[in-house]
Amino acid sequence: MDAREVAKHWEANAEGWTCQVRQGLDVFRDQLNSPAFFAMLPPVRGLRGLDVGCGEGANTRQLARLGARVVAIDVAPTFIRHAAEVEKTQPLGLDYQVADAMALPFGPSSFDFATAFMSLMDMPDPARALREVSRVLRPGGFLQFSILHPCFAPPHRRVLRNSNGEARAIEVGGYFDSTDGRVDRWWFSALKTEDRKTVEPFCTPIFHRTLSGWFTIVGMAGLVVEELGEPTVGAGAGTSGTVLDETRVAPLSLHVRAFKRWA
Ligand SMILES: C[S@@+](CC[C@H](N)C(=O)[O-])C[C@H]1O[C@@H](n2cnc3c(N)ncnc32)[C@H](O)[C@@H]1O
Repeated sequence: MDAREVAKHWEANAEGWTCQVRQGLDVFRDQLNSPAFFAMLPPVRGLRGLDVGCGEGANTRQLARLGARVVAIDVAPTFIRHAAEVEKTQPLGLDYQVADAMALPFGPSSFDFATAFMSLMDMPDPARALREVSRVLRPGGFLQFSILHPCFAPPHRRVLRNSNGEARAIEVGGYFDSTDGRVDRWWFSALKTEDRKTVEPFCTPIFHRTLSGWFTIVGMAGLVVEELGEPTVGAGAGTSGTVLDETRVAPLSLHVRAFKRWA
């Protein structure tokens, strides 16, 4: 699937996605994934940052609250419109632009750091996106990104539960298969079953890559990995039946921080 088609899918998702995340339905993002990401993030106060694939901007706003001066891009104009509307009413100094991560409209060394929250795995050519991010980072600057975990969210994933509904194992398959834009239809797990009759599912193109595939393209972009994270709610969290509960057994996302080599 080419970049234009991928962008069309995200534009089609953007209205419903914004509405649902703002109702708190992205429980995984809000209660585990983003808090873990920010806990791993180095201090950004006073730094120039780029947020890649910002969506409706919740994480971008958090970067600004931490004191960073942030430019945020997304390929879907509707996401950028919603993010910019919040900026108008509750200004944090954020600059939102419609742009493709695989062709960033910024000069070399424009940023001290970059973030990409759950967006790089949605791109047909993440190697190019990583090269672009590396190009616009200053030497010594860092990129921190989160992706679906290549090992535990490959093309086939099924959660096996015990009789109490608690996750006890994750069945995975197709780890070595390339999905090249297979379109998955899904709802946020917190959306009630009865609401699924009236709410359209998201259609997201999937571009699975192996763990070694990811580390290869990070290195080829001139980035050196310095920290990894695998968020979990941990034992005894009392989250039975939710997407959070699955992370007691194995992580759903992988967090990576890498810095740009000096030469
Ligand atoms: C799973 S959403 C995450 C949104 C946001 N970062 C968050 O954490 O709420 C993935 C985002 O990546 C964006 N995206 C996908 N391909 C892109 C590309 N080539 N360039 C820029 N953004 C892209 C989508 O439009 C979408 O907003």
